[in-house]
Amino acid sequence: MISSADLRAKYLGFFQRKQHGLLPNASLIPENDPTVLFTTAGMHPIVPFLLGEPHPQGKRLCSVQRCIRTGDIDEVGDSWHLSFFEMLGNWSLGDYFKKEAIALSFEFLTKELGIPNERFSVTCFAGDRDAPRDEEAAKAWEAQGVEKTRIHFLAKEDNWWGPAGATGPCGPDTEMFYHVRDVQEKSTEDFVKLQKEGVFCEIWNDVLMQYNKDADGRFLELKQKNVDTGMGLERTVAVLNGFGNVYECDTLAPILDKVVSISASNTGKTSRSARIITDHMRAAVMILGEKKAVVPSNVDQGYVLRRFIRRSIRHARMLGIKGEFCKSIAEVVIQVMGKSYPELQANKARIFEELVKEEGKFSTALEHGTRVLERMLQGLGNQKTLDAKSAFDLFQSYGFPLEITAEMCGEKGFEVDEGGFEALMKEHQELSRRGAEQKFKGGLADHSEETTKLHTATHLLNEALRQVVDKSIHQMGSNITAERLRFDFNWNEKLTEEQVRKVEDWVNNVIKEGADVDYTMMSVEEAKKAGAQGVFEARYEQQVKVYSVHKGDKVFSREICGGPHVKNTRELGHFKITKQEAVSAGVRRIKAIVQ
Ligand code: ALA
Repeated sequence: MISSADLRAKYLGFFQRKQHGLLPNASLIPENDPTVLFTTAGMHPIVPFLLGEPHPQGKRLCSVQRCIRTGDIDEVGDSWHLSFFEMLGNWSLGDYFKKEAIALSFEFLTKELGIPNERFSVTCFAGDRDAPRDEEAAKAWEAQGVEKTRIHFLAKEDNWWGPAGATGPCGPDTEMFYHVRDVQEKSTEDFVKLQKEGVFCEIWNDVLMQYNKDADGRFLELKQKNVDTGMGLERTVAVLNGFGNVYECDTLAPILDKVVSISASNTGKTSRSARIITDHMRAAVMILGEKKAVVPSNVDQGYVLRRFIRRSIRHARMLGIKGEFCKSIAEVVIQVMGKSYPELQANKARIFEELVKEEGKFSTALEHGTRVLERMLQGLGNQKTLDAKSAFDLFQSYGFPLEITAEMCGEKGFEVDEGGFEALMKEHQELSRRGAEQKFKGGLADHSEETTKLHTATHLLNEALRQVVDKSIHQMGSNITAERLRFDFNWNEKLTEEQVRKVEDWVNNVIKEGADVDYTMMSVEEAKKAGAQGVFEARYEQQVKVYSVHKGDKVFSREICGGPHVKNTRELGHFKITKQEAVSAGVRRIKAIVQ
């Protein structure tokens, strides 16, 4: 039996022995990335370094990273798809490339994990007008001893990764599939069929980041060729143990057991609803446990969280679970995941409180809304599509997210006018679900001139608040789009008009000074001593980049940060605070622009 802790240790141990620096497991809520709501892959925290910023830990990195993806949410409940999962990853930032990456993957799979060579197949990019057929990758697999019959060429939709957003680094990838049953494919068509049936399970993806997609849709060769890999922790643990599905993995099994134990007596462990509750409740607890207190709401991360909880409640009712149950599942999630994520223990009270609150809000609404929906469907007669307005009424009056309505309609053979629903959502300024999904699937921050300016302005705002309002202030969250910066910090009260003006003046004075922005490398310990702001996630002795805004020896701000930043504050123009609001108890938010 191999546990998830064993696999984590094996993976990180192997890559550290191969000179890869270990990155911290970053928050699910990304810093400074406007295009995604959640961290969806291990590469998110290192985007600036994939784009060429030097990384303080060198050119080889590895990590285990918690991730949330809703792109596959409809598939959750099958054997292999999850919305929260842990990703093991290794990176080369312009260091090794294709051949070595494949050799490393092969060595880890066969030597470290002991998977027999003939027990897995691989896919490579088939080529199109953007990039040639990846014969080089196929040759590299062959050189390792993988037979040609187990190497398949597939098109872009299967064998290309990124850019996660509209622009950014991307490239062909080569994926590794474990044979869950000991069978061999007869052809590529046969391979695709076995994969669709879940007999072959993708466990690892090596992205050969060779291109940068620009705003005109062109794929330009990158100066720095990167390798970005991701191995699914739960899947790999499952296949190594011969489980046949992820829910038997030790970070899921106790949660599923709990769900089944409180369900109607005939609910089995392969019940789709029980699996959905298991996955969604784990995701919800992981989000609620984050330091950056996200709570259920109708926008952004809060809305995704809400959907996880509400969909769990609906599936619980389908399994005959009555009354309050979220807390009892959350307790098991905290037990199981708390070993690797101590913040869950620390934030236990908040997790329970928010779950109980959301459950209270939605339980009665679900009952009433279900009856209303049934009447709506009866009223449709032969027409098989529920109109957008009805779906929107269900959202407004009963808090039904679109996917709950769609799911309920689907079960009765009806469809929903989803496009119309989204249009209404937009109109009501609540949230564009599609927009959120895109952000969600999204990916790379664009690192345009605008976001770079706002990033530097964020450092100045942080320091201005400390100078003008209180020295204890520090960053609790940051999100930057091309239009504005958004900065969360620990503070209880609304800033007075005078404080706002003083903060703006402080920032604008530094801009007028024409201060230089540059960085030096130092250990976390040195950075602390130098009074640098920033997230001290790294280990004490580790090297970090510290950005300073300074004029000669006069330092205005000093912060641990990956970059990028402008070279001189003069580039920023004029800084203006546009909005302030409360986020949660003790956390305030400021939005600001530079013109
Ligand atoms: N970033 C790549 C993925 O998510 C490895 O699959």
